[in-house]
Amino acid sequence: MAGSFGEVIENKRIVVCVGSGGVGKTTTAATFAMEAARRGKRALVLTIDPAKRLANSLGLDDLGHEVQEVPHERLEAMGPCEAGGRLFAMMLDQKQAFDEMVERYARDPEAVKRVLANPLYVQISGTLTGSQEYAALTKLQAFDESGDYDIIIVDTPPTAHALDFLDAPKKLSEAIDSPAVEMFRKMQRGGSLSAVGKTGAYVFKMLAKFVGSRFLEDIALFFGEFNDILGGFKSRAEEVFALLRRKDVSFVIVTSPETMAVTEALYFHQRLIETGMPFAGFAVNKVHDNAAVELEVADLASQLAGLAKVRALELQPVSLRLASESLLGAHEDLQKLAVADLQAIDRLTEVAPGAIRRQVPFFNSDVHQLESLARLRDFLFR
Ligand SMILES: Nc1ncnc2c1ncn2[C@@H]1O[C@H](COP(=O)(O)OP(=O)(O)O)[C@@H](O)[C@H]1O
Ligand SMILES: [Mg+2]
Repeated sequence: MAGSFGEVIENKRIVVCVGSGGVGKTTTAATFAMEAARRGKRALVLTIDPAKRLANSLGLDDLGHEVQEVPHERLEAMGPCEAGGRLFAMMLDQKQAFDEMVERYARDPEAVKRVLANPLYVQISGTLTGSQEYAALTKLQAFDESGDYDIIIVDTPPTAHALDFLDAPKKLSEAIDSPAVEMFRKMQRGGSLSAVGKTGAYVFKMLAKFVGSRFLEDIALFFGEFNDILGGFKSRAEEVFALLRRKDVSFVIVTSPETMAVTEALYFHQRLIETGMPFAGFAVNKVHDNAAVELEVADLASQLAGLAKVRALELQPVSLRLASESLLGAHEDLQKLAVADLQAIDRLTEVAPGAIRRQVPFFNSDVHQLESLARLRDFLFR
């Protein structure tokens, strides 16, 4: 097992950043890619939902779904770069990734047109269970096969539950094989209600009363047409799942020290182990500074009184005292958070003592500029 995230970057081809929503997956994925590029790799970050300003900073404004190269000068602004290092970024457009899959698996160009124009497809391509994760994975597979990159860092969707990512291929297969979908397929193939048997026909008739028979026919038509494509999705899902188990793949679990996030990180860790996915370590982001101060209100008040800016305000001693009291109170609250953070982080260490674990502080501002990723880098790759 690698001893540092630096080693992960040096030796792996695919790094997948997973974790609960809002913990810093996208930011961490961008930081990994930036650092890999600085170390001389052709690095691609496949990002999913970058905050708008980070997207701007990576040059991904409205271009979407196209690989963009981050200008080399911007990379050099983050410290010396080894020769050959290049940073590429792509924002996954889920709908477009799905359309591409339809094009690949449909029988003929006419079928592609019909499917893409079907109102049901327009609905379903965005909402199918696990579709976003699945689209990301197939895109990853294509980039991996292209050989254009030394390393690909994969950001994962902003799902509330980190597990959705691992379950996506299975969920998709299950949905495709579900009796309901099968019934619509039969109906389309048979061309009439009798194809679905007595019970099926009864169900459809009842349904038609509510939603109209035209709508049901649209659905049946859609599943008939979509049959080949779904079959393609399904076999592909299995391949994609196998890809994630490769030795040159590495999962980084990103988490904040919040109890819920840590609980989910631990569960996710267990799932990775169970399913034979290669786990590298934890990136614990947004950790509160642990800095106890032994300061009395009177000491702080007199220190404040010594500051030129405070003197200029000409405050009464009682105001200074009150201000010092609230400052120390606020610090004490932060300190409580810092202690709770340490306890949460201990839970990670207990479960995976040998895993890499790096902590990144909770900065006092968001991390939206490419340049500010260097702050994360200093902690992750220390
Ligand atoms: N260490 C940090 N300190 C302060 N803000 C952070 C830190 N890491 C990330 N952020 C901010 O938190 C927000 C969520 O980060 P993001 O990477 O988009 O999370 P995720 O992809 O897991 O949903 C962003 O606004 C980002 O700038
Ligand atoms: Mg994100």
